[in-house]
Amino acid sequence: MTEDRAQGLLISPIRDGTVIDHISAGQALNVLRILGITGTTPESVSVATNVASGRVGRKDIVKIENRELRKEEVDRIALIAPNATINIIREYTVTSKKGVETPAEVIGVVRCPNPGCISNTSEPACSRFLVTPNGLRCHYCDWLVTKEIAEHIL
Ligand code: CTP
Ligand code: ZN
Repeated sequence: MTEDRAQGLLISPIRDGTVIDHISAGQALNVLRILGITGTTPESVSVATNVASGRVGRKDIVKIENRELRKEEVDRIALIAPNATINIIREYTVTSKKGVETPAEVIGVVRCPNPGCISNTSEPACSRFLVTPNGLRCHYCDWLVTKEIAEHIL
């Protein structure tokens, strides 16, 4: 509760929209990138980074007014913030709270860092990665993406 009050000082409750909570610390700006939110898009967005949180130590939070997320967006967020919870807010009340689910495989979501990979040539091979505990493994060339996954998200 003390933590909640401290958060409240950072960013206010929203009336309607989506709160992405328990984002891995440092990933909030990547979440915004996945959602296509830039300084020139019209949404009202608040961001808190490195907030104290019992469950994950430090976390980031993103609140977007009047917007709900598409499944493709949630799947991308799961890759960089596996503990994130998606809260839908209506009239100031949390009406739905769901943890993100890490997909077993992602197709057309991550670009393979291997320039020679068939998924980077003009062949019609859509990028395809198996999600493993060690990172993302390319289906075609076995390349393992372990860090900076956000930079490779399409
Ligand atoms: N929130 C908000 N505006 C509202 C209601 C909630 O911004 N009108 C935010 C809260 O600040 C919190 C998140 O939505 O970051 C989830 O709210 P709630 O379920 O009330 O908080 P907790 O019980 O702390 O959530 P959890 O159990 O998921 O940690
Ligand atoms: Zn590859």
